[in-house]
Amino acid sequence: MRYPPHILDEIRARLPVSTVVGRKVRLKKAGREWKGLSPFSAEKTPSFFVNDGKGRYFDFSAGKDGDIFNFLMETEGLTFPEAVERLAGEAGVDLPRAEPEAMAVVERRRDLYDVLEAATRFFENQLQRQAGRAALAYLDGRGIAEATRREFRLGFAPDSRTALFDHLSNEGLSRDLIVRAGLAIEPEDGRALYDRFRGRVIIPIQDAKGRVIAFGGRALAPDQQPKYLNSPETELFHKGESVFNLHRARPSAHKAGAAIVVEGYLDAIAVHQAGIGHVVATLGTAFTEEQIALLWRLAPEPIICFDGDRAGRAAAFRAVDRIVPALRTGFSFRFAFLPAGQDPDDLVKAGGPAALGTVLDEARSFWDVIWLRETEAARLDTPNGQAMFETRIREVTAQIGDPTLKRRYELTARLQVSDFLWKVTKRQVSGRTESLAPAPALPTLFSAEPTRLVGLERVFLGMCIHYPDLVEHHREKIASMNFRGAHDGVSFNAFVADLLRVVDADDVRSYIEFYNLLGESFFASLGFLHGREDRALVRPWGHNLYARFPVLQRAIPERFVEDCFSNFMELLWLRDLEDELKAGVADMPPDADDSYGSWLVNLQHDILANRERVLHKEGELAEEASAYRSSFEGGTTVGPDPRGMMPTRRLAAPSGGDR
Ligand code: UTP
Ligand code: MN
Repeated sequence: MRYPPHILDEIRARLPVSTVVGRKVRLKKAGREWKGLSPFSAEKTPSFFVNDGKGRYFDFSAGKDGDIFNFLMETEGLTFPEAVERLAGEAGVDLPRAEPEAMAVVERRRDLYDVLEAATRFFENQLQRQAGRAALAYLDGRGIAEATRREFRLGFAPDSRTALFDHLSNEGLSRDLIVRAGLAIEPEDGRALYDRFRGRVIIPIQDAKGRVIAFGGRALAPDQQPKYLNSPETELFHKGESVFNLHRARPSAHKAGAAIVVEGYLDAIAVHQAGIGHVVATLGTAFTEEQIALLWRLAPEPIICFDGDRAGRAAAFRAVDRIVPALRTGFSFRFAFLPAGQDPDDLVKAGGPAALGTVLDEARSFWDVIWLRETEAARLDTPNGQAMFETRIREVTAQIGDPTLKRRYELTARLQVSDFLWKVTKRQVSGRTESLAPAPALPTLFSAEPTRLVGLERVFLGMCIHYPDLVEHHREKIASMNFRGAHDGVSFNAFVADLLRVVDADDVRSYIEFYNLLGESFFASLGFLHGREDRALVRPWGHNLYARFPVLQRAIPERFVEDCFSNFMELLWLRDLEDELKAGVADMPPDADDSYGSWLVNLQHDILANRERVLHKEGELAEEASAYRSSFEGGTTVGPDPRGMMPTRRLAAPSGGDR
C-alpha cells in the first residue's frame, strides 16, 4: 500500500538515522555527522557517514545512500512496506488503516492464513500418530533429525479422502475457505469434495514472514505419482514468486553476505541441517523475474547449484537467459555444478558441509557460463559458424538492461571473442590437432611474465651499451620504449635518455666511450647493466652482461647478435602495447562509443599477431644459441626444457633473471 508522505516524515523525525543504523554499525561522532565502517563492504577505514540532520546515510565505499527505510531494506532485505511497518511500530506512529476495499482483501487473506496454519498443525500432529509412522520412518531414513523436522514443521497427510477437510470443518472453517486455500479439491462434475494431499510427507512453504502459504507433498512410495504434489496457485501462493526457506535463510544470508540456491525442498533442508543456513530452494520451476529479485535481496551474488549432468547444464543455460535482462551493476549470480547425478542432499550426506563447500568454491562466474554455453553450441570450423558464434554472444550481451554493465560485458565479449576466434583460426590454418585451451579470462590474457621481462630489460640495456652501433641503428624505436627498472635510484628511462644523448652527440665506436661520456649519475647503472673491467678479479668489460647472457661471450655471428637485440626490443615493445590495452580496458570512459571498442580490439589483434611472430623468432634464436653453446662445451646438447618453459629461459643466462 502507499503511505502518505507526512506519515513517513513523522517516522523519520522520531527515529534518528544514527539510532537505526547504530544497531548494526558502530558509529563515532565526527563533527555534525557520525562515521563508521560500511555495512555493505568489507572496509578497514571508515567511509560510511550518517547525518541525522539530513536524515540520511552515505556510503562512499559501496556508493549507497538512503534513509532509515532504505537501511532496513538494504541490510535486512525487508520490503518497503515491511520496513515502514517495523519502524512505525518502533516510533509509535499509527499507520493509516487501509481503505475498506483493501481491508476486505486483507481480511480474506487473514482467514486463508488461519486455514493454512490450522492445516499445518494438523499435519504436524498426524506425523506423531500411528498413521504417520511410515512417514516418520521415511524422514528418519533420509537423515532428517527431529529438531530439523520441528523447525521446518514437517508433517504427514493421512491417506484418507477427507481427513483434513473434516478436521478443519470441525474447527469451524468454511468449505469455501478450505478450497480457496488449495487444501481440498471440488470436482466440477459435482462429485464429492476430497483432500488434495493424501498419503504424503508434508513440507510447508512459508512466506518472508514465516507464515505458511502452501505445501509441498512428497510421495512415500516410489510408485506414487507425482513425486511431489504442490499446492495450486492461490490468493496467497504464487509459485513463481516464492522461494522455499526464504525467511529462515534471510538473517544468515545477510550475515554471510552469500546465498545458496538449490532446486529441491529436501536439498534445502539437508543443507540447512548441515549447518549452512543461507540456503533456499526454487521448487523446480524456471527462474522468474520475481525470484531473481528475491534472491538478490539475500545476497549480491547468490550461487545457484545445478546437477553437473547434461540436464543440469541445460537448466543452468536456461537460467542464464532469465537472468541476463535483469542483471544490474553489483548484482549477479554464480553457478556451481555438482558431480553428475548428485544433488546437494546427497552431497552433504556423503561428505558433510565441506563437500558442498568444495563445489561452491569452484562456482563459475556468470560470464563463464554464458561463454560455456555459446562455445559448446557453436560450430567453429567455418567462417560462417564463427560469425554465428560472434552474433550469438552479441545478442546475449545486448539484452542486458543496465547500460554500464552492458558496456562492460560487450567489451569483455569483444575482446574474448576476437582472441578466441583468432586462436581457433590459427589452429585450423596450421593444422594442429591438439585441443584448444579454454579461452583465458581477461586478466590472464594480459599477463606477460613480468619477472622474465625485468631480466630481459637488463640484458637489452646491457647490449645497448655493448653494441653502440645497434643503438644508433634503432635509435627512434628505443627512444619510444618505456623501461620499468631502475638501479641505485636512477630509472632506466633516464639512463636510456642519457645514452641516446651521447650517441646523438658523438660517433660512439665502443662501449668504453660510454664510460667516459655518460653523466656521472648514470655511472652506477652502467656498471650494473654492463660491467667495468677488473683485472684483479679477472673480469672483462661487460662481465655483468655476460653473466646474464653468456652466449655473447662465444664465437657468434654478428647477425645473431642483431637478431637477439631486435627480438628483445620487440618483446619489450609488446609489453608496452599490452599495458596500453590493459589501461584502455580499465579506463574506458562510461560514455565510450563503438570506436573505442574497435580501437581496443584492433590493439589486441596487433598484440596477438606480433606476439606469435616474436615468440616464434625467440624459439629459433634459442635453438641457435644452444647450438653455439654446446659446440663450445664439447658437444653436449641441451635438450628441451622439461618444464616446457619458453626457450628464452635458455637464451638468457640461467641466473640472468634477477641480477
Ligand atoms: P527432484 O526430482 O530433483 O527431486 O525435484 P529431489 O528434490 O531430489 O527430491 P527427492 O530427493 O527425490 O525427494 C526437485 C524439486 O522439483 C520440484 C520439487 O520442489 C522438488 O524438490 N518437483 C519435483 C515438483 O514440484 N514435482 C515433482 O513431481 C518433482
Ligand atoms: Mn534428492
